[in-house]
Amino acid sequence: MDCVKLVFLMLYTFLCQLALSSSLPHLCPEDQALALLQFKNMFTINPNDYCYDTISGIDIQSYPRTVFWNKSTDCCSWDGIHCDETTRQVIELDLRCSQLQGKFHSNSSLFQLSNLKRLDLSYNDFTGSLISPKFGKFSSLRHLDLSHSSFMGVIPSEISHLSKLYVLLLDLGSNNLEGTIPQCVVERNEYLSDLDLSNNRLSGTINTTFSVGNTFRVINLHGNKLTGKVPRSLINCEYLTLLDLGNNMLNDTFPNWLGYLPDLKILSLRSNKLHGPIKSSGNTNLFMGLEILDQSSNGFKGEFTRKNFGEFANHEGN
Ligand SMILES: *[C@@H]1O[C@H](CO)[C@@H](O)[C@H](O)[C@H]1NC(C)=O
Ligand SMILES: *[C@@H]1O[C@H](CO)[C@@H](O)[C@H](O)[C@H]1NC(C)=O
Ligand SMILES: *[C@@H]1O[C@H](CO)[C@@H](O)[C@H](O)[C@H]1NC(C)=O
Ligand SMILES: *[C@@H]1O[C@H](CO)[C@@H](O)[C@H](O)[C@H]1NC(C)=O
Repeated sequence: MDCVKLVFLMLYTFLCQLALSSSLPHLCPEDQALALLQFKNMFTINPNDYCYDTISGIDIQSYPRTVFWNKSTDCCSWDGIHCDETTRQVIELDLRCSQLQGKFHSNSSLFQLSNLKRLDLSYNDFTGSLISPKFGKFSSLRHLDLSHSSFMGVIPSEISHLSKLYVLLLDLGSNNLEGTIPQCVVERNEYLSDLDLSNNRLSGTINTTFSVGNTFRVINLHGNKLTGKVPRSLINCEYLTLLDLGNNMLNDTFPNWLGYLPDLKILSLRSNKLHGPIKSSGNTNLFMGLEILDQSSNGFKGEFTRKNFGEFANHEGN
């Protein structure tokens, strides 16, 4: 009996030590800590940086997360870093609005963090930096947010290598992306759900094909210089809830066929060169889930009426 007790006691002590050791510092892989410190040192901190979310109209707290990163603590405990509980690899880096300023070179040590699942560098100032093709090497990445961070140039087609990507945000004003929308971004990122390329300078036709069985929920191409027609392959986006094509130069007739998308709630066609009558082709049960429609500042004849398309909750814009 005593012997059994002893064994239990030993086992208990052993388990306690094990539990204790997992809360000791320096569990973050050293090469990853080093890569993060190198990354930190590539930038200066601009304490005057403030971040404003133009959509919600709310200020985002500006805070220099990298300032206290140092070798004396476990990198998994650093602000903005999240490690996998079991492998201890760095899997999340959230540096949204962290006052970083400087050029983001393609030799950045950040690209050594090959296990990243989530990367948020939004609302920093990387003026003059290109989006490196190396972003395509984060093969586990599910969420990439480079919005409001003054990147410029073209969207590298290597982004399409991110086959697990779920959310891609390269949006809004402070980025200066140009060129066309790479076909492969849309075609090959099989789990992509939210695509936001709004307020850049993307041009050309949207000759991207949205393939059958895609999982897009949100497509926001607002505020670019896109021309040509509304791509017919959008009909394959059966889970689409928001489509914003506003403030472009699209030249097409009213896309009443979008009314077949069962989940479409918000549709903005505002300020394009769209024209012709707004009517359905006989079918009066289109756009059944639509809550917001903005078709203003186009060359349409007539208005969207319930009589023509069936009932829906609410409707804005003329
Ligand atoms: C190192 O990090 C710890 C914990 O964040 C912080 O208290 C300390 O001030 C930092 N040291 C330096 C030199 O920044
Ligand atoms: C990375 O590239 C930039 C520009 O090409 C260069 O100025 C910088 O020294 C390089 N950094 C490292 C760590 O090699
Ligand atoms: C897509 O359009 C752009 C510009 O409008 C053009 O350069 C490119 O060749 C087109 N791609 C395909 C696959 O049609
Ligand atoms: C739209 O395209 C047609 C031909 O495809 C052209 O005749 C017309 O001028 C264009 N409209 C605008 C407003 O650019």
